[in-house]
Amino acid sequence: MKIAETVLDRQEIAARINALGRQITADYQGKKLVLIGILNGAFIFLADLARAIELEAEVDFIRAASYGAASETSGTVTLSKEPELDLVGKDVLLIEDIVDSGTTIAWLHEYFAAKYRPASLKICALIDKYERRTVNVQVDYFGFRLNKGFLVGYGLDYAQKHRTLPEVYTLG
Ligand code: IMP
Ligand code: MG
Repeated sequence: MKIAETVLDRQEIAARINALGRQITADYQGKKLVLIGILNGAFIFLADLARAIELEAEVDFIRAASYGAASETSGTVTLSKEPELDLVGKDVLLIEDIVDSGTTIAWLHEYFAAKYRPASLKICALIDKYERRTVNVQVDYFGFRLNKGFLVGYGLDYAQKHRTLPEVYTLG
């Protein structure tokens, strides 16, 4: 599979993330915001979003995998890295690269709510790929809502490749 076309260019991504940052800054005034990046895919999005949020926020990471090397969800989520900050009473925002079927983020939301008891728990995804949604989950903040096949770049991978590309592309 090769890079087919650019779906989101640098300017679009930067402008949208700045707007998201302003929205989150307004919504989390006076709260104890913790950004939890879901490795590996969210690392670039989190880095840019965190700098667009004008609040004192804490940052932590978890690692979840539901995919292996394929391009469809297996339905089984595993967490191989737990958060290390104390999240009790904090306002946690889970930062995901892309929500597709919803399986991964729905599982994580339930798991986090039960295990870490934050004051609030919301979901922020760079891309909400809603057409294949099978699990009813609310994506509270999203950068883009798309239905463009399999996407790579800006953190998104196909079999661990293409994550470091600066824009978002389709594979074909
Ligand atoms: P879901 O559980 O089906 O919602 O899948 C979510 C996970 O699958 C995300 O964390 C991504 O890692 C991966 N994923 C889903 N769609 C894509 C895509 O188009 N490109 C790259 N990764 C994707
Ligand atoms: Mg992922």
